[in-house]
Amino acid sequence: MKFEYQISDQVTLDWVIRNMRQYLFPDLSKKKSRMHKNMIGVVATHEKKPVGLLLCTDDNTGENYRIHSFMTHPQYRKMGIGHSMIKEIEAYVKKRGGRKIDLYYRAHWPSRYFLEKILTSQDWSEPKEDLIIVKGKASNVNKLFMHTGLELPEEYEFGAFREIDEEDRKYILKRKKEENWYLDYLDPFVQESSMCDAASLVLRKEGMIVGWVISHLIAPDLNEFTALFIDPVHRPYKMAHLLMREAITRQQQAGISNFLITSKVDNYVMSRFLLRHAKETGVFLTRSQYSAKQL
Ligand SMILES: CC(C)(COP(=O)(O)OP(=O)(O)OC[C@H]1O[C@@H](n2cnc3c(N)ncnc32)[C@H](O)[C@@H]1OP(=O)(O)O)[C@@H](O)C(=O)NCCC(=O)NCCS
Repeated sequence: MKFEYQISDQVTLDWVIRNMRQYLFPDLSKKKSRMHKNMIGVVATHEKKPVGLLLCTDDNTGENYRIHSFMTHPQYRKMGIGHSMIKEIEAYVKKRGGRKIDLYYRAHWPSRYFLEKILTSQDWSEPKEDLIIVKGKASNVNKLFMHTGLELPEEYEFGAFREIDEEDRKYILKRKKEENWYLDYLDPFVQESSMCDAASLVLRKEGMIVGWVISHLIAPDLNEFTALFIDPVHRPYKMAHLLMREAITRQQQAGISNFLITSKVDNYVMSRFLLRHAKETGVFLTRSQYSAKQL
């Protein structure tokens, strides 16, 4: 069978949603409100009909490119189209002066091994685990939390992150600056405007902030926990567990049924407890994988 490949750097997500929606994988249509810039699209065709699509963007420096969607029509798989679309995009990006191309994918995707075959044979880096992703229902998890009987020690208290004052803010930033208090990706101030107020909390001891948990509403019924930090001095008291319990309880009270926890593979304190009890809580676990190629 003969296939042809066309590339354009003027593809918009809107256009793809209107004309080739079934060729989006993963389903980027959920990101419609956040993805406005033009993308580079590789369309594979057979007798002028589309049989595959790959979408990629650059990071504005012109050096780094990322594949966001990659899919061959199920009836045309295993015929080399996947290999060819990756070759096409690499050559195109290189010609534009790109130095690196990369992609993220999920460990549970059924085509993961076919994708990895393509990447390995085309000299992409050995895939690395990047994030641990846990998804579940607030009500199930709260049932489990209630059994543990743990109580917050008297001198500690929870508060809404939204209600911290200027002094608190300065205190957090000062400790970050002076002693690199927390890892960059645990920064509580990232995308503050979209924070889920009900389930973003600070933990205080005698008034001073000693930790926080931050979450963002990513769909009306899905809250994503993005950062959990406890000052090392206060960790032995199972504070992380208590803080997560409080946040998930408050989320449920606010009427938000589902949660998602994404954490770096090397810092998954948020998920560890849930994973240990995955059976009772019915949580779904996956990992995101990362691979790249220098061009
Ligand atoms: C991943 C995907 C794009 C690959 O497309 P494709 O056109 O089938 O790719 P190729 O024909 O080049 O096949 C790649 C390799 O996987 C093998 N393969 C593909 N489908 C297979 C199947 N169903 N059974 C066994 N082997 C299969 C091919 O034989 C080939 O192996 P090789 O490198 O040893 O020759 C396609 O499986 C797909 O669309 N999956 C769903 C979406 C997805 O997961 N995308 C990844 C997003 S990052």
